[in-house]
Amino acid sequence: MRSSLLHTSVGRDAHTRTHTGWWAWLLQRVSGVLLVAYLFLHIAVISTSRSGEEGFDSALRIVQHPVLAALDIVLIAIVLYHAFNGVRVILFDMGIGIGQQAALFWSSVALTVIGTAIAAYLSIPLIVR
Ligand code: HEM
Repeated sequence: MRSSLLHTSVGRDAHTRTHTGWWAWLLQRVSGVLLVAYLFLHIAVISTSRSGEEGFDSALRIVQHPVLAALDIVLIAIVLYHAFNGVRVILFDMGIGIGQQAALFWSSVALTVIGTAIAAYLSIPLIVR
């Protein structure tokens, strides 16, 4: 029954929409958990300042390594996706845009790509000096 439903055009559209919603849901969870992990890492790095100037300076030297600095761009992508898709979910909670959930997901992805590209354009010259 289910497979025959999916082979009608309506069924296929419904399946595609559900699929998009599943990816949006999964990415929101993964990005949320990564942000919490980053928060602890951030607190750990900043806390090295409590052990004096030298400890803090050496921690900063490590995080300023070009590879780690470039990872900040990945962090920006994670933050932007979580924030834009989070607003999408909040809109649904208010009963807005549920019928356009797939289009709103792709809008979140597009805004994330644009925001990350702008951040990369502005920050890469600072990383590779
Ligand atoms: C503009 C900022 C943010 C917005 C609009 C936002 C929005 C949301 C929304 C709406 C959800 C629930 C999604 C759902 O029920 O399907 C969520 C989940 C979550 N967010 Fe955020 N969030 C933001 C920033 C953050 C930050 C900064 C962190 C971490 C430091 C974070 C960590 C999480 C976690 C861990 C979850 C739960 C994931 C799960 O249920 O497994 N969020 N966020």
